[in-house]
Amino acid sequence: MKAPAFLSLKPEPPKYSPISTNHQEALGSALGLEGSIEKVINQTNWPLGFYRVQSQGLFIKVMLLSQFETENFAHQLESELISAKIPAQLGLIREFFISEKPYLAVIYPYFKVSFFNGDVVQIRSLGWILKQIHRVMHSSNLSVSTKTLWQERLLVWQKIMQSPDHPSIPIEAQNLIVRYKDTFKKTLQQPAQMIHGDLNFGNVIFMDENALVIDYENSYNTYLPVAVDLAMVIERFCLTAKSLVVAEQLMINFLSAYQIKRFDLADYLISTSYRSLLILCQVCEAGHKPVASEWQKFIKSIKQAEDLRGWLNQVLRNDVWLD
Ligand SMILES: Nc1ncnc2c1ncn2[C@@H]1O[C@H](COP(=O)(O)OP(=O)(O)O)[C@@H](O)[C@H]1O
Ligand SMILES: [Mg+2]
Repeated sequence: MKAPAFLSLKPEPPKYSPISTNHQEALGSALGLEGSIEKVINQTNWPLGFYRVQSQGLFIKVMLLSQFETENFAHQLESELISAKIPAQLGLIREFFISEKPYLAVIYPYFKVSFFNGDVVQIRSLGWILKQIHRVMHSSNLSVSTKTLWQERLLVWQKIMQSPDHPSIPIEAQNLIVRYKDTFKKTLQQPAQMIHGDLNFGNVIFMDENALVIDYENSYNTYLPVAVDLAMVIERFCLTAKSLVVAEQLMINFLSAYQIKRFDLADYLISTSYRSLLILCQVCEAGHKPVASEWQKFIKSIKQAEDLRGWLNQVLRNDVWLD
């Protein structure tokens, strides 16, 4: 169980710094790298983390070998996307050893990353691409296993929803889990399919105006209405705008590019953050303790969705964009 990658809803692209000579030697020889290796700063758990080798134009994610199955799944899905002419990044998966311990590396071509800049053209590109991605996911054979794994995951969550009283789960989160149980269940009853499931700021990279969606590991076991992905984009890319006027413009452009009919956005926003709270609960049950700001991010988002319910309904009622 992996905790969310970013502490804020709007993070900056990662920064790098050189690694020690020992680490350079160990990783360099294990993976056959030649140039100087740099690591994303603030990642301490050697050798896990993200690296780049600028001289070779490589970006490398080093993980535990236990992540092989999800990484391999993501790789297969990304191959299907590329076959359907949808932009995706296809890494090379390699198993390797350091100090006799096995690890997994996914090696990609390195590119200069820029995240969403608030531009209407960019959000339209994301809406359009996401529609194509959902189409591929809907008809993919990979979704058979996704559905089974999702049902298993749901059983674990149902237990948490019944009694979210683990000592590491903040009381405020426990209360919200009880209060919004029915809202979450209601959205689960809608038609579902494999979705991306983790459309955060860091998982959509922009090359000029074109969106490139990365990080499909969550699709491995996320079988939900597409509206959950849409709500996630709206929560993170639109509602974080400077004002509601700007947020409305972004939302309308995103939804019109996706071509979605009216849906109960407030409920989906709540369910999306509710799901993130459940993931944090699972992290607690696995014996870890997420930092307070992780909980707050989603607690605030649930409250915001509730506060904005009337306004959201009004924006969506104005669905002239579908003509
Ligand atoms: N090919 C790449 N080149 C440069 N940076 C990348 C590349 N792929 C990913 N990144 C950077 O690494 C970050 C995390 O990558 P991601 O695949 O989302 O890993 P995680 O599963 O840990 O979230 C991205 O937000 C992006 O900034
Ligand atoms: Mg990511």
